[in-house]
Amino acid sequence: MRFFGLSYSKIKFRRNSLVRIPFFQFCSHSENIVLGIETSCDDTGCAIINSSGRILGETLLSQNVTHLRYGGVNPLIARDLHRDNIELAVKETLTKAQLSMKDIDAIAVTVKPGLLFSLQIGVKFAMHLSKSSQKPIIPIHHMEAHALAARMCHNIDFPFLALLISGGHCLLTLVRGVDDFLLLGETLDNAPGEVLDKVARRMKLRNIPEYSQLAGGRAVELAAQKSMNKDLFSFPLPLYKIRDCNFSFSGLKDALTRHLLNKESEHCIQGDEIIPEINDLCAGFQMAIARHLVHRTERAVQFCEIHNYLPKANKSIVVSGGVACNNFIFECLESLRSMGCNIFRPPPRLCTDNGIMIAWNGIEKLKTGYTPTNFTLNEIDPIAPLGINIKNNVVNANIHVKSTRLKNVLKYK
Ligand code: KG4
Ligand code: ZN
Repeated sequence: MRFFGLSYSKIKFRRNSLVRIPFFQFCSHSENIVLGIETSCDDTGCAIINSSGRILGETLLSQNVTHLRYGGVNPLIARDLHRDNIELAVKETLTKAQLSMKDIDAIAVTVKPGLLFSLQIGVKFAMHLSKSSQKPIIPIHHMEAHALAARMCHNIDFPFLALLISGGHCLLTLVRGVDDFLLLGETLDNAPGEVLDKVARRMKLRNIPEYSQLAGGRAVELAAQKSMNKDLFSFPLPLYKIRDCNFSFSGLKDALTRHLLNKESEHCIQGDEIIPEINDLCAGFQMAIARHLVHRTERAVQFCEIHNYLPKANKSIVVSGGVACNNFIFECLESLRSMGCNIFRPPPRLCTDNGIMIAWNGIEKLKTGYTPTNFTLNEIDPIAPLGINIKNNVVNANIHVKSTRLKNVLKYK
């Protein structure tokens, strides 16, 4: 592979290799153009945007279909596909934007959290671009980028509450500024997208042609829309006695497996066959996830109210990450409007992983007066937490969430 006359595959960066940043003067009020690179999981994303959030060029090379075949993201295959795609993604994005690297002011790249080998491909390529074009690097936290993406399309002031729901994460955070996050709660086991992908596989949704190429969560959403009996299967409300903002999805996954096994034996299901109640099972499971998300988010709003963390007259909740694409789940979360909250989500292509949110986070950082410094591979951190952990403060607040809202809106029994 060649890029700007350099052979990228031959470039080796050691852990302490340093990309020295020449003196750059960024003005927080001037127009900047940032190129963003995202390779934290299984999407190779690149985008170029300007200070007003205009997308000048974007490329997203998804590996979803490949990983569907393997029953989940395979880290080594993800790395190889990123390696094959990264140069193409950047080149194509520059071409679409009709720009060259000399027009770019900075390179924003995801450095944490994510799959180590995937992160390395994006970061090494960013270092290579930085070295060859003498442009500074802005390191980006993937989950912060998900939370801030909504500010690209909606007028949302700090502070706001963010519920981030994806294939790798589930967390509630108070966003006080571009670089200022408080962590209220997170999942104790699986992420909602992860369990949706797993149960979709277990239910063999891929054998239904219209779902065969879709992410598990999207397949479950479409099947649930066809349900004629949404209450056929019952699911527990996870952690309902635990007064914190954490999440747990593994019990729901086990409950689904039990329902499925019962029905499979009742109908003598064999091989590739699918139970006739598949749509109802998807609807029940999706409802269970929505109820759990609403329950924990309601406590987070109450916690913020007690501590005056959110302005009384302007309480905003951002829902982002791949699972936020789910319209049913989002509509359930909209029930929190009755607590005086405005609920936002980015458009679907900004909810799932992409390069735009990374470039936008770079723009947001520059607007705060952030100055890029020298950069090394040590910035990579696959398991980086998000923000300051105040989960215990939530426990100490001992907030009881009344089930009325869940009952009314989600038929909680
Ligand atoms: O944010 P994302 O693109 O990647 C991660 O950072 O994980 O999220 C991918 C996840 C997958 O698990 C996928 O099944 C889920 O988002 N997803 C959905 C929908 N579309 C994608 N889940 C529920 N409903 C959808 N419509
Ligand atoms: Zn993500």
